[in-house]
Amino acid sequence: MRLLIRPAAECGFEILTLSDSDRIRNLIDLALGAVLARKPPRGADWLQPPTFNLLDEERVESRFDDRLPVLRHLERALGLAPAGDLRDVASELRAVLDLVRWSQNPSYDTSKVDQSFLDGYAYGGIAGPDCPLCCSVPRLGFLLMGPGVTYEDHKHGPREFYLPLTPGACWRLDCGEWAEVKAGELVLHEPWQMHAMMTGDEPMLAFAGWLEDGKRTAVFH
Ligand SMILES: [Fe+2]
Repeated sequence: MRLLIRPAAECGFEILTLSDSDRIRNLIDLALGAVLARKPPRGADWLQPPTFNLLDEERVESRFDDRLPVLRHLERALGLAPAGDLRDVASELRAVLDLVRWSQNPSYDTSKVDQSFLDGYAYGGIAGPDCPLCCSVPRLGFLLMGPGVTYEDHKHGPREFYLPLTPGACWRLDCGEWAEVKAGELVLHEPWQMHAMMTGDEPMLAFAGWLEDGKRTAVFH
């Protein structure tokens, strides 16, 4: 519960309380607003405000672990967001960190990915089947990657957006050339489009989302 104090007309001040649900919704509104404020490339008409399909019961799909090694880079990454709406999103995320449960995809193990990757990435879901806002669609959250980490080529059915809050990460699509993506530059992945990400000297924090239904484990390398 967070307390807000604002001036009241007659009695000086009144104290307002925000529920945890309101706090998460504020972050979702802010982060989705930052995404939708950017101009999507032609043909990406699917990038629209999502309809939330709320669930009565949580469906646990993630491998939760609040002690993932990469989390030591979270504060640094939050501080790298440039001034403007990206810093606002980072600040709001920092304000609700007590609600965010960090996790990894349960299908990722050392038979599929390097240990260095498992030590170098985490996902903090805020909307999804096992997230603070419990819904089947959309899936929204934050991807954190430490410095010098590569998220190898992978693909999945649901369309996806990424909005990096930090500068310096590189992307490659369809196993092509690597290209640097600026903070605030929208990256979109079409269904089953191969994509990979790589960090340099700094960590990357990005807001990410699937706006269509799909299982978290249905990601293929
Ligand atoms: Fe993806």
